[in-house]
Amino acid sequence: MKIAIGSDHGGYNLKEKVKVLLDDLGFEYKDFGPANTDSVDYPDFAQEVSFGVSRGAFERGILICGTGIGMSIAANKVKGVRAALCHDLFSAKATRQHNNSNILAMGERVIGSGLALEIVKTWLGEEFEGGRHQRRVDKIFKLEE
Ligand code: RB5
Repeated sequence: MKIAIGSDHGGYNLKEKVKVLLDDLGFEYKDFGPANTDSVDYPDFAQEVSFGVSRGAFERGILICGTGIGMSIAANKVKGVRAALCHDLFSAKATRQHNNSNILAMGERVIGSGLALEIVKTWLGEEFEGGRHQRRVDKIFKLEE
Protein backbone atom coordinates (compact mmCIF):
# COMPACT_ATOMS: atom_id res chain seq x y z
CA MET A 1 0.00 0.00 0.00
CA LYS A 2 1.45 3.37 -1.06
CA ILE A 3 0.62 6.27 1.21
CA ALA A 4 0.77 10.02 0.54
CA ILE A 5 1.34 12.19 3.59
CA GLY A 6 1.26 15.94 4.07
CA SER A 7 0.64 18.60 6.67
CA ASP A 8 0.88 22.31 7.30
CA HIS A 9 3.05 23.99 9.94
CA GLY A 10 0.45 23.11 12.60
CA GLY A 11 0.73 19.41 11.78
CA TYR A 12 4.41 19.18 10.89
CA ASN A 13 5.65 17.64 14.16
CA LEU A 14 2.98 14.94 14.18
CA LYS A 15 3.66 14.25 10.50
CA GLU A 16 7.28 13.50 11.33
CA LYS A 17 6.17 11.07 14.07
CA VAL A 18 3.71 9.37 11.72
CA LYS A 19 6.54 8.90 9.20
CA VAL A 20 8.61 7.09 11.85
CA LEU A 21 5.61 4.83 12.52
CA LEU A 22 5.14 4.13 8.80
CA ASP A 23 8.83 3.26 8.55
CA ASP A 24 8.53 0.93 11.55
CA LEU A 25 5.48 -0.76 10.03
CA GLY A 26 7.16 -1.08 6.63
CA PHE A 27 4.75 1.10 4.64
CA GLU A 28 5.89 2.86 1.49
CA TYR A 29 5.05 6.55 1.58
CA LYS A 30 5.77 9.90 -0.04
CA ASP A 31 6.01 13.03 2.08
CA PHE A 32 4.48 15.99 0.22
CA GLY A 33 5.79 18.41 2.84
CA PRO A 34 6.27 20.84 4.33
CA ALA A 35 9.88 20.34 5.39
CA ASN A 36 9.70 22.53 8.49
CA THR A 37 7.31 24.52 10.68
CA ASP A 38 7.37 27.74 8.64
CA SER A 39 3.85 29.02 8.07
CA VAL A 40 2.17 27.58 4.97
CA ASP A 41 -1.37 27.20 3.62
CA TYR A 42 -2.94 23.82 4.35
CA PRO A 43 -5.02 23.63 1.10
CA ASP A 44 -1.79 23.46 -0.93
CA PHE A 45 -0.74 20.26 0.83
CA ALA A 46 -4.27 18.85 0.91
CA GLN A 47 -4.33 19.33 -2.85
CA GLU A 48 -1.09 17.43 -3.48
CA VAL A 49 -2.05 14.46 -1.31
CA SER A 50 -5.67 14.40 -2.53
CA PHE A 51 -4.74 14.58 -6.22
CA GLY A 52 -2.33 11.68 -5.66
CA VAL A 53 -5.04 9.56 -4.07
CA SER A 54 -7.69 10.65 -6.58
CA ARG A 55 -5.62 9.65 -9.61
CA GLY A 56 -4.68 6.32 -8.01
CA ALA A 57 -0.96 6.97 -7.53
CA PHE A 58 -1.50 6.36 -3.81
CA GLU A 59 -4.02 4.05 -2.19
CA ARG A 60 -4.29 6.14 0.98
CA GLY A 61 -3.42 9.59 2.24
CA ILE A 62 -2.76 11.13 5.63
CA LEU A 63 -3.22 14.87 6.20
CA ILE A 64 -2.41 16.70 9.41
CA CYS A 65 -2.98 20.33 10.35
CA GLY A 66 -3.66 22.05 13.67
CA THR A 67 -7.23 20.82 13.92
CA GLY A 68 -7.49 18.45 10.97
CA ILE A 69 -10.60 20.36 9.95
CA GLY A 70 -9.13 22.52 7.20
CA MET A 71 -7.37 19.53 5.69
CA SER A 72 -10.51 17.40 5.70
CA ILE A 73 -12.64 20.16 4.18
CA ALA A 74 -10.11 20.77 1.40
CA ALA A 75 -9.46 17.08 0.68
CA ASN A 76 -13.16 16.28 0.38
CA LYS A 77 -13.46 18.80 -2.49
CA VAL A 78 -11.38 16.47 -4.67
CA LYS A 79 -13.22 13.86 -6.72
CA GLY A 80 -12.82 10.33 -5.42
CA VAL A 81 -11.56 11.42 -2.02
CA ARG A 82 -13.32 10.34 1.15
CA ALA A 83 -11.39 12.08 3.89
CA ALA A 84 -12.23 11.22 7.49
CA LEU A 85 -11.31 13.45 10.40
CA CYS A 86 -10.57 11.07 13.29
CA HIS A 87 -9.54 11.77 16.83
CA ASP A 88 -10.62 8.48 18.38
CA LEU A 89 -10.07 4.80 17.65
CA PHE A 90 -13.75 3.96 17.17
CA SER A 91 -14.09 6.48 14.33
CA ALA A 92 -10.82 5.37 12.74
CA LYS A 93 -12.08 1.78 12.60
CA ALA A 94 -15.65 2.61 11.60
CA THR A 95 -14.73 4.98 8.80
CA ARG A 96 -12.66 2.29 7.10
CA GLN A 97 -15.34 -0.37 7.58
CA HIS A 98 -18.27 1.81 6.55
CA ASN A 99 -17.03 4.75 4.46
CA ASN A 100 -13.99 3.16 2.81
CA SER A 101 -12.22 6.42 3.63
CA ASN A 102 -9.05 6.88 1.64
CA ILE A 103 -7.64 9.87 3.50
CA LEU A 104 -7.17 10.20 7.25
CA ALA A 105 -7.15 13.75 8.65
CA MET A 106 -5.98 14.57 12.16
CA GLY A 107 -5.25 17.66 14.22
CA GLU A 108 -1.90 17.88 16.00
CA ARG A 109 -3.32 20.48 18.38
CA VAL A 110 -6.29 18.30 19.31
CA ILE A 111 -4.88 14.96 20.45
CA GLY A 112 -1.60 13.64 21.78
CA SER A 113 0.82 11.84 19.52
CA GLY A 114 0.36 8.50 21.31
CA LEU A 115 -3.33 8.37 20.42
CA ALA A 116 -2.69 9.79 16.95
CA LEU A 117 -0.26 6.99 16.13
CA GLU A 118 -2.73 4.38 17.37
CA ILE A 119 -5.38 5.97 15.14
CA VAL A 120 -3.04 5.70 12.14
CA LYS A 121 -2.35 2.02 12.90
CA THR A 122 -6.05 1.25 13.30
CA TRP A 123 -7.07 3.15 10.18
CA LEU A 124 -4.41 1.47 8.05
CA GLY A 125 -5.32 -1.98 9.34
CA GLU A 126 -9.08 -1.97 8.86
CA GLU A 127 -10.86 -3.23 5.74
CA PHE A 128 -13.97 -1.89 4.04
CA GLU A 129 -16.96 -4.13 4.76
CA GLY A 130 -18.75 -3.54 1.45
CA GLY A 131 -22.34 -4.80 1.22
CA ARG A 132 -24.85 -2.16 2.27
CA HIS A 133 -21.93 0.22 2.86
CA GLN A 134 -20.91 -0.08 -0.79
CA ARG A 135 -24.37 1.11 -1.81
CA ARG A 136 -23.93 4.17 0.40
CA VAL A 137 -20.44 4.91 -0.87
CA ASP A 138 -21.81 4.61 -4.43
CA LYS A 139 -24.33 7.31 -3.51
CA ILE A 140 -21.46 9.53 -2.42
CA PHE A 141 -19.86 8.97 -5.85
CA LYS A 142 -23.14 10.08 -7.47
CA LEU A 143 -22.95 13.37 -5.54
CA GLU A 144 -19.74 14.10 -7.44
CA GLU A 145 -21.43 13.90 -10.86
C1 RB5 B 1 -3.10 27.00 11.04
O1 RB5 B 1 -2.92 28.00 11.99
C2 RB5 B 1 -4.42 26.29 11.26
O2 RB5 B 1 -5.47 27.13 10.89
C3 RB5 B 1 -4.46 24.99 10.51
O3 RB5 B 1 -3.41 24.19 10.94
C4 RB5 B 1 -5.71 24.14 10.64
O4 RB5 B 1 -6.03 23.95 11.97
C5 RB5 B 1 -6.85 24.58 9.83
O5 RB5 B 1 -7.90 23.95 9.81
